[in-house]
Amino acid sequence: MIDLTGTRVGCAMTGSFCTFKAVFEAWEALAATGAELTPILSFNAATTDTRFGLAEQTRERLREITGREPLRTLAQVEPIGPKKLLDALVVAPCTGNTLAKLAAGIADTPVTLAAKSHLRNGRPVVIAVSSNDALGQNAQNLGRLLSTRNMFFVPFRQDDPLGKPNSLVARFEKLPETLAMALEGRQIQPLMG
Ligand SMILES: Cc1cc2nc3c(=O)[nH]c(=O)nc-3n(C[C@H](O)[C@H](O)[C@H](O)COP(=O)(O)O)c2cc1C
Repeated sequence: MIDLTGTRVGCAMTGSFCTFKAVFEAWEALAATGAELTPILSFNAATTDTRFGLAEQTRERLREITGREPLRTLAQVEPIGPKKLLDALVVAPCTGNTLAKLAAGIADTPVTLAAKSHLRNGRPVVIAVSSNDALGQNAQNLGRLLSTRNMFFVPFRQDDPLGKPNSLVARFEKLPETLAMALEGRQIQPLMG
């Protein structure tokens, strides 16, 4: 049983809507470790209604699991770095869009700004990728982040190698274990499969 009692963890979600159900389960597992969870939503995750659910339902689920109102503006996440508000930041799911921004140092959404702000404290960011182009146009960004200090990855796999050969999806159930190791500065292995 993983014990993260008192560890302050940012739970940042971006717009891979089809994975939200699995990610909510991962946040629940994380809450059970005793971690203090701060939910953060990208603009798109906070406001887009899709066939996988309504934006208000996303926000409500996060309130239920974490007991906190999701942060969803740049101004709300900006203090994360200067005030050292988090011990770790988890981005799950991480879209191809957010992956590319993180690799390029772009910080124009609550999730990417939270990451930039948090990283300056030299603390871990854990990424759970979910993108149809992770092995295509985004492979270079994935490679860059894999070799970036304080970036850790939830193990990922090809979810449909023949139908979507460039797609990767994280094993969200490995999130608590990945985070626990990242807090010790270690990347969980195996990374793929
Ligand atoms: C229903 C739906 C499902 C989506 N699923 C994914 C996905 O699994 N992975 C991905 O990278 N983008 C996905 N997208 C596209 C992203 O939501 C889009 O690139 C958006 O700009 C991401 O912004 P964000 O990274 O700031 O949340 C999906 C969009 C919609 C409407």
